[in-house]
Amino acid sequence: MSYYEITGGRPLSGSLAVHGAKNSVLPILAACLLVPGQCVLHNCPDLSDVSATLDILRLLGCQAEREGDTVWIDASALSRSEIPEHLMREMRSSVIFLGALLARLGEAELSYPGGCELGPRPIDLHLSALRALGAEILEEQGALCCRGSTGLRGREICLSIPSVGATENAMLAACGCAGVTAIVGAAQEPEIIDLQGFLQAAGAQVTGAGTPTITVQGGTPLHPVEYRVMGDRIAAATYLCAAAAAGGEVEMTGASADTLTAVLSCLEEAGCTLHTAPDKIALTCRGPLRGIRPVRTAPYPGFPTDAQAILMAALAGGEGATMFVENIFDSRYRHVDELRRMGADIQVAGRAAMVSGVGRLHGAAVRSTDLRGGAALVVAALGAEGTTQVAELRHIRRGYQALDRNLRALGADIREIP
Ligand code: UD1
Repeated sequence: MSYYEITGGRPLSGSLAVHGAKNSVLPILAACLLVPGQCVLHNCPDLSDVSATLDILRLLGCQAEREGDTVWIDASALSRSEIPEHLMREMRSSVIFLGALLARLGEAELSYPGGCELGPRPIDLHLSALRALGAEILEEQGALCCRGSTGLRGREICLSIPSVGATENAMLAACGCAGVTAIVGAAQEPEIIDLQGFLQAAGAQVTGAGTPTITVQGGTPLHPVEYRVMGDRIAAATYLCAAAAAGGEVEMTGASADTLTAVLSCLEEAGCTLHTAPDKIALTCRGPLRGIRPVRTAPYPGFPTDAQAILMAALAGGEGATMFVENIFDSRYRHVDELRRMGADIQVAGRAAMVSGVGRLHGAAVRSTDLRGGAALVVAALGAEGTTQVAELRHIRRGYQALDRNLRALGADIREIP
């Protein structure tokens, strides 16, 4: 099994274009099922989660091809509505196919996604939204069988939590409903605006993404479309935190600073200098990071849970104390034990983690525990003294394209040892 070997202490410098957003491209690939024709997606990152999604599309009868960062999906011959368990297990977020299959075929059968590295991942909000639109859903022995046999009809759906996935599932299903659907209490993440952008370009009547109420006038036939996926704000945050941990001067292109305000203000408070322009973020960090006010994860535009581990890793090797409060997922401190192996001083109590900066972490042999936890170990290693081995790269490959090559281009000493 391969691992990264990283020798820390080299400042980063240079410019990097971030790849397309994982959390945008997955729902957009599912949305391609709604189009009986060929869609072309640009800026489609080469990630294991994307490959798993393309495998699901092929299995359902679609044609799916990739060349560089362009992907062609033709769902004209969509023939199946069941997704087997092994593919569901590979990628938990494939529950997004429920809404898309219901909208196009009026039925979907897949296995229950179950728990994941972040703890239990309930889908009750997804199911109640689809039921509200008229889907009958049977849950039997881990299988979910959904039918819209009496016809799907638009109506008001109220989400008690602004779940990203449930909002997207409801948007996709609503496209196949007769009449108007209003999703109230919707998640407002930029990736939802991106999904709306794709659907609108394909002819769907969807408005309101980015606000708490999304309205879908369903039943409009969709047409083939060529669309560019937005840049990955969490990947951008990762490279910025890497430069904050290692020191240096980097510029990220392809991700909008407006989508990262909460993370950028933390980095600024910790002592980094930031300059932003449309589609560009530049960060300079000279000297150790300082402790900052409590970082509380929250739905967008709050501090993203996906950036919690990454910022924590940077601050753990700085000076001063910072409190983190994880409000979105139950089990999102699994990277803490690994950071401790590198000398970090972090005390966890329930949802809170108190990070006391130790000045400098040291190299160690560590394992990725989940996607962002793995990226956090890389960030920590870049600022640490000595050499770190980061194992379990499969987690990192779910969400980062060529993380090692990109960091090398910025001057980091990182290589993959097969
Ligand atoms: C998405 C992102 C993930 C990110 C998360 C929160 C994708 C592919 N993944 O995941 O990277 O960390 O948003 O920003 O876009 N919940 C329920 N019932 C449900 C659904 C969710 O209780 O039916 C809870 C979850 O347990 C969690 C919270 O709602 O506590 C938010 O989860 P949600 O926004 O749904 O996350 P995902 O869409 O799974």
